Amino acid sequence: MKERLLRAIERKSAKIVVLGLGYVGLPVACRFAEVGFRVWGLDRDEEKVRRIGRGECPIEGEEPGLPELVARVMAEKRLTTTTDYAVCRDAQVVLVVVETPVDPETHKPRYEALRGALTSLAAHLSPNTMVIVESTLAPGTMDRLVRPLLEEKSGLRVGEDLYLVHCPERVMPGRLLYNLRHMSRVVGGMPLEAAEVAVALYRHIVEGDLDPTDCLTAELVKTAENAYRDVQIAFANEVALLCETMGADVWRVRELVNKSPGRDMHLPGAGVGGHCIPKDPWLLIANAGERFTPRLIPAARAVNDGMPLHVAELVVDGLREAGVGIEGSRVAVLGYAYRENTDDTRNSPSEVLVRRLREMGAEVVIHDPWVPAYRGDLEERVRGCDAVVVMVAHDEYREMDLERLRRVVRRPVLVDGREVFPVEGVRARGWVCRRIGVGTRRDG
Ligand SMILES: NC(=O)c1ccc[n+]([C@@H]2O[C@H](COP(=O)([O-])OP(=O)(O)OC[C@H]3O[C@@H](n4cnc5c(N)ncnc54)[C@H](O)[C@@H]3O)[C@@H](O)[C@H]2O)c1
Repeated sequence: MKERLLRAIERKSAKIVVLGLGYVGLPVACRFAEVGFRVWGLDRDEEKVRRIGRGECPIEGEEPGLPELVARVMAEKRLTTTTDYAVCRDAQVVLVVVETPVDPETHKPRYEALRGALTSLAAHLSPNTMVIVESTLAPGTMDRLVRPLLEEKSGLRVGEDLYLVHCPERVMPGRLLYNLRHMSRVVGGMPLEAAEVAVALYRHIVEGDLDPTDCLTAELVKTAENAYRDVQIAFANEVALLCETMGADVWRVRELVNKSPGRDMHLPGAGVGGHCIPKDPWLLIANAGERFTPRLIPAARAVNDGMPLHVAELVVDGLREAGVGIEGSRVAVLGYAYRENTDDTRNSPSEVLVRRLREMGAEVVIHDPWVPAYRGDLEERVRGCDAVVVMVAHDEYREMDLERLRRVVRRPVLVDGREVFPVEGVRARGWVCRRIGVGTRRDG
């Protein structure tokens, strides 16, 4: 199996199916097509399959190079899209790139999409296929779920008829193609020799390091790197909250902390969103078992989840200074995506903020230039509002003219959740300003 797969990969004659054409799967499929493989993109979402089939990129955010690449590989017939699993029958490589969320209440992994995809795939698998799971997984999932499910439903044996690989992604909306090409990747193999074959495959599209290892290590690396980031952000947020309480400025504190060698204090902010950082820490500890109780990682999650609620408190405080209560006020929330210049609204901190403001009796209007439901003229959206909250550092907000905006709002209260404006500059333009990590009292 190994030699046959290596030959097909080297000649680019291996048939590749990418199962799941989302933020990750679509760029991966396009890149393999671009370098000369014949690629089939499979998704259960008929509308998405139709759009990509017409050469359209369904991702609305700024994704340099992706819309052009989708159009080109479709026009050259290097990529074919379908909803039919029969296409997996004679594939030599199948990449599984479906969503792997966690339950919002229990924080346990929800593998409906993964189970569904693997079950449908197993019915069509042929011997001598390499199945690569790119989706992020709780450590132990390749061994406890992916392997037994595929073996049971297909009747094929891992190691004899199948290679299993876990090659998690390190892409990020806004930099999908760039990261895919330049970031190093960890490649877990089951058996280990499968990793060698997968490294040969990824070498065609990845310029960064490809580090072969076992599946458990690969699962741990991916979830740990995102949990690491979450903990770092939580630390910055905690210091920001402390600075606010003590009347200090976290941005100056951070700048000076980072002058100390080896320190890299992250940016505090209005919350952590997206499909990865808020859930991968939960995936990391999902199978910790009963003998070990993680404490730091859940604590970091709690700090970060609390940030949009803290923004709501800043709104209340800013309105108080302007002489009004939150009940009956009209608040504009700018930015609904989870990060700047993307359309990705998954686990958006703005969703939490909007819910909280409405619970407190505010009327909320939402604007986001990248999210179709909230597009529109910014000035019209904030007209007559009592407070404006910047939740995402979209370029459009960085370029906002605060003088003009002040003339259309009812009360000039600005809450900056993302270090978009310097506080003094905002105040000089006649606004009441609240900013994460900047206290309004000074005790000397
Ligand atoms: N989005 C990111 O920036 C990012 C970065 C690194 C890793 N990841 C990981 O990659 C994985 C995919 O994330 P994504 O953002 O691309 O998700 P996504 O929701 O954008 O895409 C998943 C796609 O899979 C399809 N799908 C689901 N179940 C299916 C089934 N049974 N059959 C066929 N198609 C099915 C969905 O219709 C969807 O188009 C996740 O595990 C995520 O954690 C994502």
